[in-house]
Amino acid sequence: MTNRDKTAKLIVGKKEIDLPVLSPSTGPDVIDIRRLYTDAGVFTYDPGFTSTASTESEITYINGGKGELLHRGYPIDQLAENSHYLEVCFLLLYGHLPNSSELDDFVNSVTIHTMLHEQMQFLFRGFRRDAHPMAIMVGVVGALSAFYHDSIDINDSWQRQVATIRMIAKMPTIAAMAFKYTIGQPFVYPRNDIDYASNFLRMCFAVPAEDYKENPVLSRAMDRIFILHADHEQNASTSTVRLASSSGANPFACIAAGIACLWGPAHGGANQACLEMLKKIGSVDKIPGYIKRAKDPGDPFRLMGFGHRVYKNFDPRAAVMKKSADEVLDLLGIDNNPALQVAKELEKQALEDDYFIEKKLFPNVDFYSGIILEAMGFPTSMFTPIFAVSRTVGWISQWKEMIQDPHLKIGRPRQLYKGETHRDYIDINQR
Ligand code: CMC
Repeated sequence: MTNRDKTAKLIVGKKEIDLPVLSPSTGPDVIDIRRLYTDAGVFTYDPGFTSTASTESEITYINGGKGELLHRGYPIDQLAENSHYLEVCFLLLYGHLPNSSELDDFVNSVTIHTMLHEQMQFLFRGFRRDAHPMAIMVGVVGALSAFYHDSIDINDSWQRQVATIRMIAKMPTIAAMAFKYTIGQPFVYPRNDIDYASNFLRMCFAVPAEDYKENPVLSRAMDRIFILHADHEQNASTSTVRLASSSGANPFACIAAGIACLWGPAHGGANQACLEMLKKIGSVDKIPGYIKRAKDPGDPFRLMGFGHRVYKNFDPRAAVMKKSADEVLDLLGIDNNPALQVAKELEKQALEDDYFIEKKLFPNVDFYSGIILEAMGFPTSMFTPIFAVSRTVGWISQWKEMIQDPHLKIGRPRQLYKGETHRDYIDINQR
């Protein structure tokens, strides 16, 4: 909404331009620069979008200073404590907490779509056995558009709804199949009589010779990991999904683009990188050396699982994750996990260090999640695929919101060109 009491004034050379100021429901005001090029002939420059709002959204709000994360207004710690993943999915997608019949219908729709087209298993078999599961997921999710032709018309609201349900339902099956394939075990089909998180764990850990025994504490911890990663407003992978979708591309292809972006170690790949780092540090006496390296501007090493573009106080997801790590290790009777000991001591030492205090670097969601996932039996290569399973609902909610926006425009950033200006072609013999 335009704030009538405020305008921003910009002076470019001799020109003075008034720019409207938009007020959000909460958070900082936003200067509307949409007419800037038309009115003043200049662009703005903001690599990494540190100060640029790329869209309007009603889904998720983060107050980085307060360490607050709200989905449709509800704090993440309340959702993690009281809700479950599919209810959070409903909330993100449709904007309100469901009543019991809405929830039953939604859970039922997701549950009956968990199987994959049978022919898709042959796609998996085309990958090398040692492929990273994320590489398989990028390919297989992109290929969904070749199998589900009846849900790729983005202008048809029914098809959008079917694609939404399919994606949330099939993503755990795809991730579990990618895992099974890389460890040389047979694929395990989903089962409709168990909940979403237990079903995922079963598809990962059951074998034909021995079924998986559900454990409510582990299922709850898995479900919590799904909730804590469900959405995070305009992060890199979500912005990738939005940009890819802005051209009208089909949703499966766009989510595959999001998965590709998530894989990077600065984003979803950080959970794998973090546990690998904790293991490399190995023991608490080595921590000061690694902290020294992280502070050295000449050394590219960073403390993985530390720092965040938006959170400058604490990451509310990390607090829940730390508690969950304790619960899971306690249940499994693991009281001397070296990675957890290193993590706790590293967190303590870093939080007392001036470098980390000044730069406002705190543990993020990835700092403790790897410890839980490893204790459950997942190899590090599965950490990012699990993040992808969880974030699928965030990507789809943001995609759905964007497609329904009557002002949707193709995303097309400008640039600050620094290359050669016009020059004429020179024949190869004259160079
Ligand atoms: N270890 C050491 N120094 C750091 C770290 C870190 N983890 N993170 C940031 N810094 C320093 C950085 O060197 C820079 O110093 P200077 O101002 O002297 O150049 C300053 O802090 C600001 O860093 P930045 O890279 O400009 O900040 P950013 O907002 O662009 O990056 C980040 C945010 C998350 C990419 C970064 O903190 C990082 O690389 N962290 C490690 C990777 C990680 O844990 N990523 C998961 C993020 S949460 C889950 C998700 O979103 O996927």
